[in-house]
Amino acid sequence: MSGYILAIDQGTTSTRSMVFDQDMRIVGVAQQEFTQFFPNSGWVEHDAEEIWQSVLSTSRMAVAKAGITLRDITAIGITNQRETSVVWDRRTGEPLHRAIVWQDRRTARFCEELKARGLEPKFTEKTGLLLDPYFSGTKLAWVLNQVEGLRARAEKGEICFGTVDSWLIFKMTAGRVHATDATNASRTLIYDIGENRFDDELLEILQIPRAMLPEVKDCADDFGVTDQEVFGAEIPILGVAGDQQAAVIGNACFEPGMMKSTYGTGCFALLNTGSDRVASSNRLLTTIAYRLGGETTYALEGSIFIAGAAVQWLRDSLGFIGSSAETDGLAAKADPHQRVYLVPAFTGLGAPYWDAEARGAMFGMTRNTGPAEFARAVLESVAYQTHDLLEAMKKDWHGASDRTVLRVDGGMVASDWTMQRLADILAAPVDRPQILETTVLGAAWLAGSRAGIWPDRQGFAEHWKRDRRFEPDMADDERRTAIAGWRDCVARCLTKHS
Ligand code: G3P
Repeated sequence: MSGYILAIDQGTTSTRSMVFDQDMRIVGVAQQEFTQFFPNSGWVEHDAEEIWQSVLSTSRMAVAKAGITLRDITAIGITNQRETSVVWDRRTGEPLHRAIVWQDRRTARFCEELKARGLEPKFTEKTGLLLDPYFSGTKLAWVLNQVEGLRARAEKGEICFGTVDSWLIFKMTAGRVHATDATNASRTLIYDIGENRFDDELLEILQIPRAMLPEVKDCADDFGVTDQEVFGAEIPILGVAGDQQAAVIGNACFEPGMMKSTYGTGCFALLNTGSDRVASSNRLLTTIAYRLGGETTYALEGSIFIAGAAVQWLRDSLGFIGSSAETDGLAAKADPHQRVYLVPAFTGLGAPYWDAEARGAMFGMTRNTGPAEFARAVLESVAYQTHDLLEAMKKDWHGASDRTVLRVDGGMVASDWTMQRLADILAAPVDRPQILETTVLGAAWLAGSRAGIWPDRQGFAEHWKRDRRFEPDMADDERRTAIAGWRDCVARCLTKHS
């Protein structure tokens, strides 16, 4: 038996495929960007067919780069952008609408209507989520209302709904398997995370036919075998998890109280709460961290929509930097006497504010404010937002404390300056792993351990190694003043005050 694992990370802006060898080393990588559609203000769509093609081509390229063939792959793991919703024809496998992306805000008014009917507590109690356009349920309801005849066909079982993992599994198995995993299901707004099943009452409210929903499996499970003709070889798909949950796994946050934060376009912090399904009183989400061996592990999640995207803004819209890597050098030159803040509410604010209408603002500018102060404000905004999440987690659950260590990953964590600032603002240690590809590693581990060629949970946790720990190094009063300033700025951006 060959010992290679193919892990596919289908993200919001690009698809990446990686081949790992038996020693969990990356031996082949391929990446491909795909089209972002913005058909209306606040709308974001993807072409599901283009995504599928990007998975096919990056898988082939990664395997070629590893110097092997598809037949050498023992198992496949999939991780994906969560919540993004795809609807397709069960018989032809053709998408019936563009995928509606997690960032899409088109159902904001519908969510407000549901809230006005007093339904948010019901959704939160069952799903752990909030009535926000972010999640799949209202996106699916929108498509069902929009495409003529779709609901009737869905009721007859002719139509499939799925998050991106589910769509890919269907395509890879030539339509033989319509399944998802518990982490992706937990983001749909129709899945009861306590009962581990799609909920009839919520389906009824959103008028979603049950016949179109996928089967929900564990994260390490049998998701079918790729089709020889379509995929080029018959390979079992043995691991699936939403990308933020895959990062929890890849960062080996297997114990209650362990926390990870991924800094990509946005930032997603997840705190493992073990078998405790902690209900948040501070507008965090309760979600499934992973389900292994039929046992569900929960997490509290804070989702921030803009993190690395603010660095892109600095580069592409303001032209203050030529490449993202220049940001921390520029920030380090900022005048220490100026306290300039950016509230990056470019697409509203996520946790713990959930204000879809809020918009971004810079505060505290003087005649001397220039690119360096902007760069610092951008990087600090990431630290302040993470601080908001950690504070909310501490209030929500006793297992989060001043001793909580944050394991980080994602593109932004390469910046020492940002990581030090993060530790300073959090007043908590920040651990950067040696392997920064934690998301894809998490998906690979699910498949590799299920295939029996990678270590078990404990062995994998022992394999996790720190590159560097950033210890907090800021005077308490300076930190308190900085945070008070941030809170004041956020308050001035909010359109709703709870
Ligand atoms: O919930 C959205 C998240 O899964 C998207 O992650 O890395 O594709 O931006 P990413």
